[in-house]
Amino acid sequence: MAKKQDIRASLRKVINPDDAVHNSSANDSFEQVLARARMGRRGFLKGSSSLAAASMLGMGLAFLADSVNQKGQVAKAASNLNLSFNSVAKSIADTLTVPEGYTAKVLLATGDPLKSNVTAYKNNGTDDDFDVRVGDHHDAMQYFGLSQNGKGWDPNNSDRALLCVNHEVCEDLGFIHPNGPTDYGAENTAARPAIEIDKEVAAHGVTVVEIARQGSTYQVNRDSQYNRRITAATVFEISGPARRSPMMATAFSPTGEQTRGTLNNCGHGYTPWGTYLSGEENWAGYFYRREEDSALTEKELAAFKRYGVGNATSGRYNWSRPGASDNTDLYRRWDASKTGSSADQDFRNVANTFGWVVEIDPFNPSAPLKKRTSLGRMAHEGAWSAQVVAGQPLVFYTGDDARNEYVYKFVSAKAWDPKDATGGLAAGDKYLDAGTLYVAKFNDDGTGEWLPLTLSNPNIANYANYAFADEADVLINARIAADAAGATKMDRPEWGGVNPANGEVYFTLTNNVSSSNGRGVTTPLNAANPRYYAEVKGDKTTQGNVNGHIIRWRETGNNAAATTFDWDVYLFGAQADAGADVNLSGLTDENDFSSPDGIWFSEVMPGLLWIQTDDGYYTDKTNCMMLAALPGSVGDGESKMVANKAVPTNTNADQTVKTHVGQAASPTVLRRFLVGPRDCEVTGITESPDGKAIFVNIQHPGESSESATDPTQFTSHWPDGGNARPRSATVIITRNDGGKIAI
Ligand code: FEO
Ligand code: CA
Ligand code: CA
Ligand code: CA
Repeated sequence: MAKKQDIRASLRKVINPDDAVHNSSANDSFEQVLARARMGRRGFLKGSSSLAAASMLGMGLAFLADSVNQKGQVAKAASNLNLSFNSVAKSIADTLTVPEGYTAKVLLATGDPLKSNVTAYKNNGTDDDFDVRVGDHHDAMQYFGLSQNGKGWDPNNSDRALLCVNHEVCEDLGFIHPNGPTDYGAENTAARPAIEIDKEVAAHGVTVVEIARQGSTYQVNRDSQYNRRITAATVFEISGPARRSPMMATAFSPTGEQTRGTLNNCGHGYTPWGTYLSGEENWAGYFYRREEDSALTEKELAAFKRYGVGNATSGRYNWSRPGASDNTDLYRRWDASKTGSSADQDFRNVANTFGWVVEIDPFNPSAPLKKRTSLGRMAHEGAWSAQVVAGQPLVFYTGDDARNEYVYKFVSAKAWDPKDATGGLAAGDKYLDAGTLYVAKFNDDGTGEWLPLTLSNPNIANYANYAFADEADVLINARIAADAAGATKMDRPEWGGVNPANGEVYFTLTNNVSSSNGRGVTTPLNAANPRYYAEVKGDKTTQGNVNGHIIRWRETGNNAAATTFDWDVYLFGAQADAGADVNLSGLTDENDFSSPDGIWFSEVMPGLLWIQTDDGYYTDKTNCMMLAALPGSVGDGESKMVANKAVPTNTNADQTVKTHVGQAASPTVLRRFLVGPRDCEVTGITESPDGKAIFVNIQHPGESSESATDPTQFTSHWPDGGNARPRSATVIITRNDGGKIAI
């Protein structure tokens, strides 16, 4: 027992996906930042005053009178919204807490059957048919209203819908196996039972399920033709510029047109034609690669290193190692080593077929599934649409969630024609397969630039560290292209969102901590990532930007395709009792939080923002949570000098950095709405079109349990209670008086 626990503890240390990869490129050196800071002070002041002027000219919350959202609905400009619930207190209880007057009910938990002929989940590890059950680790999701006749998208239908739910990973502890996983983890060289691998592969991916309103809540329709699982084994088409690239060729698809599986589906998005977008996030560690580096070309090695497909610590699940009799391509595809004589003989390129935004048409189960390579390859969180304007290009924002990675946007080549709103995947081909990918540079003076990632950018065409072969290579190695372009290293970009009330774009930067290469250690502070401090939890001191922040920007001229913008920091995470240089947004006990991850702007109540946390630093005082916010607009706060104190265990000096902070967040405009059960992450939120129900995902309750089988070692038994193994789940939250949520 003790040995097993030790192994598990060390596995968790090795495979924590959030820490698996980081950007160690030389881009954005300390010298460059210092030089910029020296030169930029006057520019910063100028930028600030132009922001202030913009506010005075009314470019604030009501800048756009009305706007059309992705569903073609006209969003009214934000009126005077008020939060109408009492803040939920911080809690470390193993329970889900919502405000007084609200009810939360579990809709879909890990293992629940998706068909009426599938047996109830026993939750003891003996159900092996995850291809017909709800997957594990629920993450982002989207409510798509289904037409009353059961065919196609009706964005206004609150009675009947298809829910698409991401399943990010499969519990490391192996709650889905009878006795936890066998011979698991990167260091383990033993063969694994194929039955375990198959189950884990099937517990990843996406669930599509039909739901119907019943009274004040919803129920799953297990007889629906739409219910299905898309897993880490389902065939996907490679679409866009990287299709048929020699860098995508594998033994499965020598022409580089297909791959099997989607992986680590984390954040999401949706299109104006009613399809679901899902981001492949921490996929790199799944690939086994133990060959000598000398077996690779210089370029191949540079790409593997930049993306974290290492030759020492990869192979997180050991999926390439079933018993000899099962060693077919279905398993061999997780081995990215050069084992054959050419790329069509082995899976040396397989990692190039992961790390994309994928598109799924929930209304057409027989339509192909597509990896949209125009949006670049990275640890995608999700892809969020800007406001949709007829005759203008479509714009999707996307972020790369690893320490010091970047924020991107994709601008379509084609201008939006509202007739394509019923176009399905053909519309996806039209708008998502051709366009320009940009990466963000946040200048210290409060302005920003979008840098194009194409070979027509001389910094990319002439990059000394990597010779790009063609535009497909630029997208496959978008991180390297972004290094070359001169992007700004950020504190782990998670979700983005576009405020339907004024078109401004928000991005969570969840945290950036590491004693060796975190923010303020080897990664220099800058105006957009201005904090470095120490936080003590028990006997552990963490340093860097521990609690995260949320940055926002307004594109120049409110044109989503613009190549410049103005930014400020909307909100800094902090403990309420932290010093003024850490608690820069003035959080109180009613709204303090750490590590923002999911954010979602309500489309029913424009101006209402939901914020969800995935935290490990404030968890001695509270479990992860969700807050409701009424943000203002870029430039509604002030410039501030942040005095960052050196951490005694590091060699850093005190560092003072100028930043621009939004309006202080009093409980009037930011309030805690929900606290999850123990050791969970709160992630994923979607709403019914009438605003009377929200759907929220609770991911991995009991994550730090010490055993998969001994209930006394579980840190959570949610949602089933008693001695049950914990499960991830979607909950529906409604208001007891039938009113709209939060307002
Ligand atoms: Fe899967 Fe970046 O959270
Ligand atoms: Ca996330
Ligand atoms: Ca996260
Ligand atoms: Ca998590």
